[in-house]
Amino acid sequence: MEDRIVTAHLMMEDQAVEYSLRPRYLAEYIGQSQVKENLKIYIEAAKMRREPLDHVLLYGPPGLGKTTLSNIIANELGVNIRTTSGPAIERPGDLAAILTNLQEHDVLFIDEIHRLQRTVEEVLYPAMEDFALDFIIGKGPSARSVRLDLPKFTLIGATTRAGLLSAPLRDRFGVVSRLEFYTEEELAYIVSRTADILDVGVVGEASREIARRARGTPRIANRLLKRVRDYAQVRGDGLITEQIAHEALERIQVDPMGLDAIDHKMLQSMIRNYRGGPVGLDTIAASIGEESQTIEDVYEPYLMQIGFLQRTPRGRMVTPAAYRHLGLPVPERVE
Ligand SMILES: Nc1ncnc2c1ncn2[C@@H]1O[C@H](COP(=O)(O)OP(=O)(O)O)[C@@H](O)[C@H]1O
Ligand SMILES: [Mg+2]
Repeated sequence: MEDRIVTAHLMMEDQAVEYSLRPRYLAEYIGQSQVKENLKIYIEAAKMRREPLDHVLLYGPPGLGKTTLSNIIANELGVNIRTTSGPAIERPGDLAAILTNLQEHDVLFIDEIHRLQRTVEEVLYPAMEDFALDFIIGKGPSARSVRLDLPKFTLIGATTRAGLLSAPLRDRFGVVSRLEFYTEEELAYIVSRTADILDVGVVGEASREIARRARGTPRIANRLLKRVRDYAQVRGDGLITEQIAHEALERIQVDPMGLDAIDHKMLQSMIRNYRGGPVGLDTIAASIGEESQTIEDVYEPYLMQIGFLQRTPRGRMVTPAAYRHLGLPVPERVE
């Protein structure tokens, strides 16, 4: 799965340039206008009051700009950002050490926050609510609780799975924002911006051609652009024309809707073996040799977004639009 050209997860090849491609201020952050507008106001208000920004939870599928936005928030606030992730914080003490080392109004960014251990999460509650750490000193009847004040900070949590967050943790975020898939136009803009930074020429409709196949995801758009750039260098003179983009994308087998071989395999299997559904997630997973979790986090959101897959109480169903895209007759039952 991780080898998919259209995986929204960070791949090795992304890492080298990812940093230079990241917008650094809200004005450079394309799309997500609702989220951006709100944040702009909260950030301004916090700065005027000289208070830390409320804790922010960002959720949505991978590659949509959660990490980028977290860094932007810190930049806009003019504070430091300390970055860690749910699985990286192994013990409550690890989190306590991070918290006590923050400076006033700093941002603490916890990626994959749904993967925090319960015992670690409990340290977060008083930290988020009262900017305090609670300790128990001593044992037995002489044990007493001691409270240590922390600098006032802003927690930004990012997750692909808001549903897995415990209610008490979710409730402690003042701002909860969901990132949406990007439109083709927004992605075309992101492709042009990236092309400028990488210093490659993209002309005519080429950026649209790339955007169309990027599954609504900036990370994928940038990756496709890099692949197309390689092709343009070897096959042409380096300039990315619509024709070159088209050829390159056909070669890497990303179809015009951004579906790759695995998406095809999944839809085909549902159609062939289960009459297009309804079929349970675990059954789909077993039939194509993937994990249910991966299907739910990575494949499904986009297929549902483009209306190729539907979630029903009885299981997943392939929609008429998907049949048509695959060039198959739509069964009456499905219509
Ligand atoms: N709104 C945006 N405008 C421009 N580029 C973006 C935007 N959002 C994301 N990107 C690009 O996509 C890449 C992946 O974004 P990232 O923040 O790492 O996603 P996430 O943390 O949600 O998985 C970034 O390196 C950046 O280049
Ligand atoms: Mg991220």
